[in-house]
Amino acid sequence: MPRRKHLSTLRDTAPVILPSLLQCDFGNLQREVGLLEDAGVRALHLDVMDGRFVPNLTYGMPIVAALRRLTDLPLDVHLMIEEPEPYIPQFYDAGADVITFHVEAVSDPQPVLNQIHALGAAAGLALNPATPVSAVEPFLDDCDLVLVMSVNAGFGGQSFQPIALEKLQYLRQHAPPSTLLEVDGGVNAQTIADCSHAGAQLMVVGSAIFGHNSYASAVNLLTRTARGDGAN
Ligand code: DX5
Ligand code: ZN
Repeated sequence: MPRRKHLSTLRDTAPVILPSLLQCDFGNLQREVGLLEDAGVRALHLDVMDGRFVPNLTYGMPIVAALRRLTDLPLDVHLMIEEPEPYIPQFYDAGADVITFHVEAVSDPQPVLNQIHALGAAAGLALNPATPVSAVEPFLDDCDLVLVMSVNAGFGGQSFQPIALEKLQYLRQHAPPSTLLEVDGGVNAQTIADCSHAGAQLMVVGSAIFGHNSYASAVNLLTRTARGDGAN
C-alpha cells in the first residue's frame, strides 16, 4: 500500500490515539511496541529532535528503521529539526509513512511538502502554540495533515495550551475536508474530548499512556473519552 494511503485508514477510524515514542522504554523497544499493538493502537508517533530547533535531542533514522523492523503500524514521524530537507529522504528510506515538519523550521514549506509527496509519503505541517494559523493557511491544499501543537515542541509532560483548540476549530472550517488534524502535547483524559470536539482526528499522547502501568487501559480510556463515551 502506498504510504500516503495509510492516512485514509486512520481518517476512517478517527479519533485515533497515537502513542508518542519519547517517554517509552527505549531499552525494550520490541516489548514496548508489542504492548502498544496489544493495546490496539493503529499508528506510532515518533518524536525526532535535533537540539537546535528544540532544546532537546532524541533520535534519528536508526531508531525509525528499528521500529520499521518491529511493526507494520504506520510511522508518523514528527521532525522537530532545523532545515529538515536533507534528512527527509533518509527518514523516508528508514520507513516513515507520514513526515511532519515545523513551519517555523523552514523558510518556505511548499518545496518541502512537494519533496515529501514526491517520495510517496504523507506530508504534515506542524505549528507551535505561539505560531498563528495564518502561517500554515497558504499551504493547506498540499498538507495531508496539520499538527497543532498544544505544548511548545521539545518535551513531554507539559500542560495543555487551550489555544490549540481555537486553531483546530479554525482549521476544521478552512482546511480541505480531507486534511487530517492532529493535536500533540498535554493530551490526556481531561483534555482529549475538547480536542475531539474542536476537530482533532489524530491524538498524540505521551505521558497519559507511558505514565501508566497498563498501556491497554490507558488507550482504552482515552479512546472512549475522545469518542464521548468515557467517564471523564
Ligand atoms: C513534544 C512532542 C510530543 C510529546 C507528547 O515535543 O512532540 O509528542 O512527546 O507528550 P505528552 O503527551 O506527555 O505531552
Ligand atoms: Zn510529537
